[in-house]
Amino acid sequence: MRVTVSQIKEMKERGERIPMLTAYDYTTARLLDEAGIPMLLVGDSLGMVVLGYPSTIPVTMEDMLHHTKAVVRGTQRALVVADMPFMTYHTSPSDALRNAARFIQEAGAQAVKLEGGEVVAETIGRIVDCGIPVMGHLGLTPQSIHQLGGYKVQGKTPETALKLLRDARAVEEAGAFAVVLECVPAPLARLITQRAKIVTIGIGAGVHCDGEVQVISDVLGLFPDFVPKHAKQYSRLGDVIRQVAKDYSAEVKARSFPTAKESFAMDEALVDEVARALSSA
Ligand code: KIV
Repeated sequence: MRVTVSQIKEMKERGERIPMLTAYDYTTARLLDEAGIPMLLVGDSLGMVVLGYPSTIPVTMEDMLHHTKAVVRGTQRALVVADMPFMTYHTSPSDALRNAARFIQEAGAQAVKLEGGEVVAETIGRIVDCGIPVMGHLGLTPQSIHQLGGYKVQGKTPETALKLLRDARAVEEAGAFAVVLECVPAPLARLITQRAKIVTIGIGAGVHCDGEVQVISDVLGLFPDFVPKHAKQYSRLGDVIRQVAKDYSAEVKARSFPTAKESFAMDEALVDEVARALSSA
């Protein structure tokens, strides 16, 4: 039985912190599911950490559907949230609804996530009214990177802090069940969390949000390009992979791999017979 949106809301009510991670493929999703992570995000961050783009902007619906299907196949229990890519929910609420529905119907996700506050409230309402749970995303919204002028902390002035509070209220009133707060000062994220009924999920937003999300490649120490300030590397899988590749390469060159253990035997007499048959043919 999968975790439901109601269960996520109940976790907030109980004061139980909600751990969330991104996942982009079957194997990782399966391991995170087995570890008991209740909510997985197929983030459009996959554009950077899986596909090698410089931002999330080039990510398409087809990219997201492809990876969401893999994550859904890898999970039995986790609630899977799919990120709606750039320009798939901006043109009109009807377009947004059509695209959101594809994540639920074709890919098997249980919810979608989209960026923005008051400006997308009508769109959120339309999607939720049709039975699709929505997670909002405020603060540093990477799809607006060109307008924001870089990956910077948001809401540091009284005006922008008030705007964030208004946006959080708009997302909540539109019917979203949760909202990501990305790169928001910790005291402001605490204020939003205290005032909101909606579940807040922080990333670079301090410890007072109802839950926390991180990009899986960051916590595994897998992404070589950079480590964001808000991320903690729980492992150095990048180093592990590099070392494995070097050891493998050395053993292949030295003919010490594969050994008999990794090979399939055949009676030498049979091999001789085949060789004789070949030479007399
Ligand atoms: O795309 C993503 O991974 C995200 C998280 C950083 C919240 O939106």
